[in-house]
Amino acid sequence: MSTLLIKNGTVVTATDQFVGDVFISGEKISALGQNLNMTADKTLDATGQFVFPGGIDAHTHLDLPFMGTSSSDDFESGSIAALHGGTTSIIDFAIQTQGDTLGTAFNQWMEKANGKAAVDYAFHMAVTDFNETTRAEIRDLVEKQGVTSFKTFMAYKGALMVDDRQMVELMKEVKKHGGMVTTHAENGDIIDSLVQEARKNKQTEPKYHALTRPDIAESEATGRFLDMAFSGKHPVYVVHMTAESALNRVREATKRNQKVFVETCVQYLLLDASLYDQGFEGSKWVMSPPLRTKKDQLALWNGINQNLIQVVATDHCPFCMDQKKMGENDFSKIPNGMPGIEHRMELMFSEGVMKKRLSLNKFVDVTSTQAAKIFGLFPQKGTIAVGSDADIVILNPNQKHTLSSKTHHMNCDYSAYEGWQVQGKCQTTILRGQIAVQDGKFLLKKGFGKFLPRKKLDHTPCITE
Ligand code: URP
Ligand code: ZN
Ligand code: ZN
Repeated sequence: MSTLLIKNGTVVTATDQFVGDVFISGEKISALGQNLNMTADKTLDATGQFVFPGGIDAHTHLDLPFMGTSSSDDFESGSIAALHGGTTSIIDFAIQTQGDTLGTAFNQWMEKANGKAAVDYAFHMAVTDFNETTRAEIRDLVEKQGVTSFKTFMAYKGALMVDDRQMVELMKEVKKHGGMVTTHAENGDIIDSLVQEARKNKQTEPKYHALTRPDIAESEATGRFLDMAFSGKHPVYVVHMTAESALNRVREATKRNQKVFVETCVQYLLLDASLYDQGFEGSKWVMSPPLRTKKDQLALWNGINQNLIQVVATDHCPFCMDQKKMGENDFSKIPNGMPGIEHRMELMFSEGVMKKRLSLNKFVDVTSTQAAKIFGLFPQKGTIAVGSDADIVILNPNQKHTLSSKTHHMNCDYSAYEGWQVQGKCQTTILRGQIAVQDGKFLLKKGFGKFLPRKKLDHTPCITE
């Protein structure tokens, strides 16, 4: 069994911090301490550097067929980019085709990842057509495949959207088997109506994407989703929250003692809707929900520190500019999504920790630990502890660098953060004891990543007796 010793780093978990050593035997962390007197096959000196648990990106779309094209990163390119930025596990979405089974979707996504993914991976199952066949598949997905989270879309009417009846039935079935329902919360009907109106008025530019997806569509859907969950005491998770008004629905829900999980994404914390005011260039940030205001950004940062938001993901769903051009004459045909998987950890460190918006422990919590805890991967993933997988990122807090499509590893011909100066660089990324990236070089083989079957979830949404 090969051994690796990381010496003299500042080891940070979601709850602790100490200067010391991490000893790795094979795939696992086997000792932690100060001045560990052990010899290893390889020693890394981490003096002056942070040693964090490998990042977990709980929301990615690699090789996703969507809006007439496919996201431009597959499981190979996307996962290699993730490792360059310190992310060692992802939870991607296997998406049911309406009229087809969940099992088919699961098999398709296993095939997409197998032999290609360089990070460890799990799947949320996206249910787009809940019926009696689908209902019968839930148990096996949880029990046999370890797929414990079930995603729904309250938007994308006519393609992915489910109605409220499907939602509550799904919540009941999923809870019965120890899983949790998650949602993309936007009111698909409000949006559909506004989009039709804009198209009729010949409003074609990317900025109309944002104007036809107002925050009220998000807050309404969020509130409705939380009400449906509360009515049956179901545990739920809202993906990619963007707006203060939506967060306030969560705040309201806590007043009736409801516990819900919330994710936001890096772009909603750092970018705002003024990026749409530059003609077709704005298509780079066409995603759903769209970017909001600086006031919303502040609410989200504070939401993290108030423990209302637990997870910061990316919703990585890149499209190159020739794909974005599918919507050159009609914003509603621009494929929705942007690249981000590579820079989540560094941006959150630079803009969060260095700018004193987040403590070091909170940084680890939102980029790794909470995703593992909420989705049934803890303590195998999400922490630095004896017995946990040796997934580690060594970050140099003093190294400054500039983000650019010229240097990034994502298969996308633009960067959503072109020219951004970042303080803090992921120097070394380790996945299950193997050095995956060191000093900008990818050292693993594609396909090293393993599928992660997850444990059943035992979240308590609300105690009533
Ligand atoms: O615009 C986005 N977010 N694209 C990916 C699909 C989704 O809604 O998460
Ligand atoms: Zn979404
Ligand atoms: Zn998404």
